[in-house]
Parts: sequence; C-alpha cells; structure tokens
Amino acid sequence: MEPRTKNILIGTVTVLLAAALIAGAVYFNRPRVVAVVDSESVLAGITTDNLMAHLKELEAIAEANGGNRKAGTAGHAASVDYVEQQLKKAGYTTERQQFSYDSSGRKLVSFEMVGPSANSGSVEVGTDVDLMGAFHPDEVTADVTAVDLNLEGDRQTTSGCEASDFEGFPRGNIALVQRGTCRFDVKMSLAAEAGARAVIVMNQGDAADRRGIFVGDLSEIATVPVLAATFDLGAELAAGGRVALTVDSPGAVVTENLIADLPGLGGRTVVVGAHLDGVGGGPGINDNGSGVAAVLETALQLAAVDAQPTLGVRFAFWSGEEDGLYGSTHYVQQLSEAERRAIEVYLNVDMVGSPNPVARVYAGTGSDHPVWEVMRDHLRAQGVTTSTANFDLSDHKPFMEARIRVSGLYTGADEPSPNGAPGDPCYHQACDNVTNIDPEMLGLMADALAHGVLSVAS
Ligand code: TRP
Ligand code: ZN
Repeated sequence: MEPRTKNILIGTVTVLLAAALIAGAVYFNRPRVVAVVDSESVLAGITTDNLMAHLKELEAIAEANGGNRKAGTAGHAASVDYVEQQLKKAGYTTERQQFSYDSSGRKLVSFEMVGPSANSGSVEVGTDVDLMGAFHPDEVTADVTAVDLNLEGDRQTTSGCEASDFEGFPRGNIALVQRGTCRFDVKMSLAAEAGARAVIVMNQGDAADRRGIFVGDLSEIATVPVLAATFDLGAELAAGGRVALTVDSPGAVVTENLIADLPGLGGRTVVVGAHLDGVGGGPGINDNGSGVAAVLETALQLAAVDAQPTLGVRFAFWSGEEDGLYGSTHYVQQLSEAERRAIEVYLNVDMVGSPNPVARVYAGTGSDHPVWEVMRDHLRAQGVTTSTANFDLSDHKPFMEARIRVSGLYTGADEPSPNGAPGDPCYHQACDNVTNIDPEMLGLMADALAHGVLSVAS
C-alpha cells in the first residue's frame, strides 16, 4: 500500500479497550487482548500467491469431480469442504445453511447403441447427440426406424413432414427423421401420432454447417423425447440399430451456503459474499473461484491480525447462483425483519480476475451504499482505471430487492472490453481454469474488497 491511502476515509481500525473487553465478555467469555488493526497489515497479507493457491485447489477439485463444481454435485461439496477447512484453521466457526430448489429442465443422461448391430464406436452425448426436448423423464430402449431419409446426392428431404411418411411405422420404435423442409414440431407430432417412443432428428448433411450436432427449438410440448443427432450418427443408425436412452429430470437440488462470522461489538453487520458453485461445463475459476478467493483471503487475513471490528463481518459462500441466485435468495428470505435491517451493506464479489479486465465497482443500483466510493478511490490510488456498473446479474439482487444497501466488484464476463476481446473469453466454458485469470487484477480487487470491508466495519 502506498502514501495516497491517506486520502481514504479509513486507515485504522481502532477498538477501544473498554469496548473490546465487553465484546470479549459477550462473545468469548474471556477478556481479549486489544488489537489495533490497520488496513495496511491486512492488505499486506492478501497476496497474489495466496489467492492463486485457492484457485489451484478449486481447479484440482473440479478436475477430480467430473470437471466442474456445479451446485448439487460432488465438485461443489468438495469446494465447500475446502473453504470450510480454511476458515476453521483460521479460527472461525462456520455454519452450513442447507436449502433446496427445483432445477427443472431435462437432460439426456445416456445414449447407447445396443444389440447385435451396435457399432463399437462410442456415441457421446453433447457431441454426437443431445436433447431437443422432453416433457417427462424417460427411459426408452427400442429399434430405430428410418423415416423417408435422403442420405445421398443433394440430400434434400421432406423426412417426417407428411403423415404418409409414417405409414407402416412400427409402434413403439424410435423414429429417425432428417432435418429439412418443415418444422421440428411437425416431425415430432407426426412421429408421436404414429406411436414413436422417441424421435431422433439427424442433421440434414446437405452442407458443411449441417453435419454436426445442432440446437433445435420446439415450440410444442415434447410428449416423447426428441433428440438432435449429427448426420453421421443418423447415417449409422439408418443402417439398422437399437438404442437405449435415458432422459432425466435433475429435479430437486439439495445444496448449502457456507457462512462464517467475525463478531463485532454491536448488532450491525457487513455481509460479504461470493458464489462457490459453478456451471456444469467447466471448473469455474474466474466465475467464481476469483470472488471466493477474494472473500476467503479477506476472512483469513482479518483473522490473522486478530481484527476486532465494530460491526460484525459475515462471510458468505453461496450455492445455486448459476441456476438462478438460489442460495442468496434463500439467505435473504430466511432473515427476520430485524436481521435484515441490521445489515449495513452487502458486498458481492463475482468474477474479479478476468483476463481482459475492466475494474468495475457496483454503483447506481438503486440501493447503493457509499462504500462503493471508498473502493473506487482505493483502486484509483493504485492506478487502476475504474468504472461503475449497475446490473442485477448476481447475488446482490435479492439483497437489493429486500432494500438492503449493496455494492460489489466485477471485472467482466462475455461483454467486450475496450480492446475488443471479451472480458472473459472462457466465461462458462471448460477453459475457465487458472490460466484464465489476471492475477494482478485479482490481487487489486481483493485488496479493494478488504479495504472496503474495513472502512465500513471499523
Ligand atoms: N453472475 C454471472 C454468472 O455467474 C456472471 C455475470 C455476468 C456477472 N454479468 C455480471 C456478475 C455482472 C456480476 C456482475 O454467470
Ligand atoms: Zn458468477
């Protein structure tokens, strides 16, 4: 930290002896040594190495658990274990707050070619075949019947567009139709009427961009599973095949928020949070290992200096953010009116190590807390160009809606940075790993967070 810090409203967290003794008696039943904590010593403890070490752990956890840390999975559970263990080692008492939510939406969980004609080559869900729609969870094992395909020449086709295509269709079989001419809904409805147990729509194969897997939209309810397949898989199935497929309803996700408290002298608190869950498609290191690392390091370094702030500081590691802000919403809903009013500010940290960063401080939210200026000024004093941002795409939204004042930090997702590239080109992708982090920016953001927390809590 450097000289211009003087400009900033806070510098020192000073806790009066008497007050500290009372606090000691209340919270610990023993007198505590008074600690005079200045933000410099806390910020000095927050190093890039420490932050990156947390991210490496989270990446290793994803790697060991199917490549992600999604809510309700082993990867998220292991992430909670890791953060909890770090907090406990630093002396915190932690609380796990369990909740559940319905993640409706169907998934093709397996697709296999079975029977004597099965090709030895494996079919991969997501690459060769995927779900277009399914109203119910389902399990289908049946022979595939090709419906008016045109696999040669120009490959122009009206496959599955006419009721006559399904004349003689063996009820209970899986209909294999080809993309082209009419809407997917038409092919689906005619197939279902003809008694198909499932429908596979193979790509048309008439052009280079019509060979691979594709995303198709159904506007009608899919009463039977409707799948999209590559042209090649369709051609293979057309030769005669039997398929076993499973469509699952992920249904209720049971998961938990992790919470740790640094007690204050009175009843008021600063809540600092980051979502610890990620998307299913990657390790979630910038989104949101970065925010987790910043919040966790703030907690660890405050404990390391034995900080005794005036306001309590509550560190929260939310789950279910990626599915719809479920963890933070649950947290806000379970607060009593008095607890809600006792929150001085909620500070959100989501995506703060973006490789093409734009340093943003949340402001203009309609529920601003003046600490945003303290964080902005701190960043400016470090030579960081900042902008403000007003959006409700993360866990501060339920707080704002409950009229709790908020701020937060953010360095960019898929929207373009001034250099033209997305703030985070690996947003929600498999490449969101430790190499997708700007360590220096992450360090600056973590410092700004700790500085903001201290300025409010002291
Ligand atoms: N919350 C989003 C996610 O986790 C990321 C995001 C996009 C975001 N835009 C934002 C976070 C603005 C904070 C602010 O996927
Ligand atoms: Zn996020």
